[in-house]
Amino acid sequence: MATLKPIDLSGLDDERLASSVRAQIAEACEKNGFFQIINHGVPVELMDKLKEVGRKFFDMPEEEKLVYAGKPVLAAEGYGSRMVLTDSEPQFWREFVELHTLPLSERHYNYWPQKPAEFNETVEKYTAALMDLAHRLLSVISENLGLKPTYIKEAMGVTQQSIVFQCYPPCPEPGKTLGLPAHSDVGGITILMQEGDGLQVAAANDTWELVPNHPNAFVVNLADQIEIITNGRYKSANHRAIVNSDSTRRSYVTFYYPGKDQKIIPAPELVDAKIGPLYRELYYLEYLQALAAGRAKDKRLVQSFAINNPLIT
Ligand code: OGA
Ligand code: NI
Repeated sequence: MATLKPIDLSGLDDERLASSVRAQIAEACEKNGFFQIINHGVPVELMDKLKEVGRKFFDMPEEEKLVYAGKPVLAAEGYGSRMVLTDSEPQFWREFVELHTLPLSERHYNYWPQKPAEFNETVEKYTAALMDLAHRLLSVISENLGLKPTYIKEAMGVTQQSIVFQCYPPCPEPGKTLGLPAHSDVGGITILMQEGDGLQVAAANDTWELVPNHPNAFVVNLADQIEIITNGRYKSANHRAIVNSDSTRRSYVTFYYPGKDQKIIPAPELVDAKIGPLYRELYYLEYLQALAAGRAKDKRLVQSFAINNPLIT
């Protein structure tokens, strides 16, 4: 199964293997937009360092972390914590730090932890490496669709990137909550590094499939704007994080997404002349507004931007 066996990206540089690696990526993108990659070129030491600064931050006393607390009304940035147990619809069980990293003008360093000392420098190096990786993946994905290598990058406009450090502490009643409830990512492409199992992707018949933690691998998932740009050829799958009663799980999630004033349209090359586009044009801001207005419970948000609806599930 595509999510179980990581794709070895080193094969992209080997003439004999490149077409098979590209085909594996294409297959995963068509199936559910979820796959894992190894030998992706990001140094293991940098990955380990990011995990280390993340762990050290979350291990600090609450009052030291609250110095970086976000002001949710103004911006989803900074430190936050939400632990909810309920018998009704499961909610959150997580602590997090969210930071905008690109464009540079959007770096609000007042939210960036000053402790541990190497936090900022590590985040800067890590997110720069992950931006390169995102561009490399997007060029393979574009070419797999018969588009020019820079197609999706250009279709998303000015580069926007943020990183979220997620921390899911042990939970006494894991059945009464979720680390993160089911959602699809709203932007373009997400690259996640996890420590411990808990990430699940929607599978057939309303079941969930575990995305196992592979050492030194990244989980890649396509988000809603790529589903629209590819006119539904590639999917943005629902996923969620579950928690457990005996160990803390952490993940480090890098999001790459369009600017608010970016117009998103299905690539004309992928639109069937007879059927027409399957999604309507939109400005990314509209998508964020739809998100803020609330997700329909049993529907993916991207479906509310679909036209010729019966074809999109
Ligand atoms: C997210 C996400 C999953 C995880 O941050 O959007 O899906 O395992 N995270 O933390
Ligand atoms: Ni997500």
